[in-house]
Amino acid sequence: MNRELLLMWRSLFVAALALLPATATAQAAKPAAAQSAKPETAQAAKAGTTQAAKPETAQTVKPETAQAAKAENAATPDLARAQQIAQQVCTACHGADGNSPQAANPSIAGQGADYISRQLANYKSGVRVNAIMQAMAAPLALEEMVALGHYFARQKPRMVGAGDAQLARAGQTLFRGGNSAGVPACAACHAPNGGGIPKNYPRLAGQHADYTYAQLKAFKAGERGADKDGKDVQGRIMADITQKMSDADMKATADYAAGLR
Ligand code: HEC
Ligand code: HEC
Repeated sequence: MNRELLLMWRSLFVAALALLPATATAQAAKPAAAQSAKPETAQAAKAGTTQAAKPETAQTVKPETAQAAKAENAATPDLARAQQIAQQVCTACHGADGNSPQAANPSIAGQGADYISRQLANYKSGVRVNAIMQAMAAPLALEEMVALGHYFARQKPRMVGAGDAQLARAGQTLFRGGNSAGVPACAACHAPNGGGIPKNYPRLAGQHADYTYAQLKAFKAGERGADKDGKDVQGRIMADITQKMSDADMKATADYAAGLR
């Protein structure tokens, strides 16, 4: 635990270096930390259950149509610049291709471009609170956030896999149909296959269960989606939904989503 924290801060430092205006030192700084961890291959378990996911009728909650994610009007995203930042900075924690090797760091490969740039903007403005990512987003220009969104959206998500068959089954029921306590079907907004719906509804499929679970808890605790000025309009939706979720609901949906592809 301590070691992990240490590694993170080290990456943070390295990343900050890399963000300095291009100098020889910045180039030399190699994000070393996370690279040795190996991507899990554990697809085994849940293949059966996930494949069965059929589009269904649970569309009771209708995703609102997108409103302005201001970040997205840049004409041509500078993907070369984004790749440079990704390889110098983001790679330490999210993997060079956005497939994070560590469960605490979200995978962002294949995540919606607009969702990614909105989160970066939210970190930068303090609407979404996280010390590490706020530091990462602080030096980014709006066009860079947009470009990073497009860059990571184009990376291929790798499978993680659900950890526990029984948990995943409970998760599936809730994900597809919601429950009588008032939890809506996750599928209505995140799509039956967990792939998300542009522009506002993020991909959950293949995400580390630990990360998803942690976010659900943060929404419920008012640590995400509940900024005092009410600027996090999208996050608010999840803050409301999680009020009705039990801890078991969160664990189960997180586990199930990890196994989706
Ligand atoms: C030192 C580790 C570290 C580095 C380097 C880092 N991140 Fe993160 N990132 C995290 C962690 C941890 C989270 C989860 C934070 C939270 O709980 O809000 C995160 C969250 C995110 C999210 C939100 C994902 C979601 O699903 O909501 C995005 C987008 C993101 N990072 C993009 C980037 C980009 C782009 C870079 C490079 C400029 C980067 N990160 C560099 C650790 C890091
Ligand atoms: C009414 C639409 C809606 C429904 C239903 C819904 N969500 Fe969401 N969810 C959202 C939106 C919008 C966001 C993006 C929030 C943001 O931009 O910060 C989101 C974000 C999330 C995130 C954060 C993802 C990340 O990468 O950080 C998780 C986890 C999540 N939802 C899980 C669930 C689960 C589990 C369910 C079912 C119990 C569910 N959602 C049902 C709209 C919905």
